[in-house]
Amino acid sequence: MTPQTSLLQWYEQNGRHELPWRLTNDPYKVYVSEIMLQQTQVKTVLERFYFPFLEAFPTLADVASCDLDDVLKKWEGLGYYTRARNLHNAARQCKGILPTNTHDLMQLSGIGRSTAHAIAAFAYREALPILDANVKRILHRYFALSERNDKKLWEYAYRLFDTKHPFEYNQAMMDVGALICLPKKPLCEQCPYEQWCKGKAEPLSYPEAKKKTIKPIRKRSIIVHQHNQKYALQQRHEKFLHGLWGFYETIEPSTAEYLGHITQHYSHFTLEADVYVTDDEITEEGFEWFDPKEIAQLSLSRADHKVVDLLKVKS
Ligand code: ADE
Repeated sequence: MTPQTSLLQWYEQNGRHELPWRLTNDPYKVYVSEIMLQQTQVKTVLERFYFPFLEAFPTLADVASCDLDDVLKKWEGLGYYTRARNLHNAARQCKGILPTNTHDLMQLSGIGRSTAHAIAAFAYREALPILDANVKRILHRYFALSERNDKKLWEYAYRLFDTKHPFEYNQAMMDVGALICLPKKPLCEQCPYEQWCKGKAEPLSYPEAKKKTIKPIRKRSIIVHQHNQKYALQQRHEKFLHGLWGFYETIEPSTAEYLGHITQHYSHFTLEADVYVTDDEITEEGFEWFDPKEIAQLSLSRADHKVVDLLKVKS
């Protein structure tokens, strides 16, 4: 028995074979799944986002020909919206037809080496390993590597790889990462790699812990300007949440009517905002007026959705 045969056997018996992106060799569908799964759990992608997205955009050419706003609307709630912007941009870069080699795939917005390898291995059955966060954790433990170093990890990824079964090997690694080699409480006794894993005596030392950084808190006031049952929103032009619509936000406290408080955790800060409503005119430029039905058609950040919920409670 080799580590690779042990893994394949385990996958045959325990793998999540029914995941829809494992039942297709359409590179576009694989691509969409990989991008969604980068920062979002399988369950969320599967239950709420993968199928509606593919229904709205059955092909990459459909993504290329639509406006960014339409893609963002379908991405709403999934977070990390740069992924959606990159997807839209990539669709236009390749004119709706994904390249068939990894070099050209990696020229497209948002497609790094691991994603290119995933598309090539899953859609084209090429013999290339993947190196996403789950695979990294397995390799760190398997080879007892404490240092976080992607260049070296790629070498180890090739060392453990099974060139004869790229599809099954990569999918199996995803499943071991998601189901067995868990970050906090790995289930080593169930692991197909148990007899070879060099790190199993102290799996939590591999990789070494990241230095804890404390997330900053941003205190803000969100002021909803209303007029004739309409509300003022503007589309964000800054990098963060670019393209999403939002209510007026300021660092100043407000004396307007208090509606409530919202908290929203983002990857690099936490937003703590008091929400107010006012009939005052809005002096800032770039705001447009929408009634509740129209707002439902816009792409909003989660924080702004919470503001909409507060407005509903009030009315
Ligand atoms: N995460 C990234 N790619 C995946 C895949 N193909 N299956 C399950 N989880 C994944």
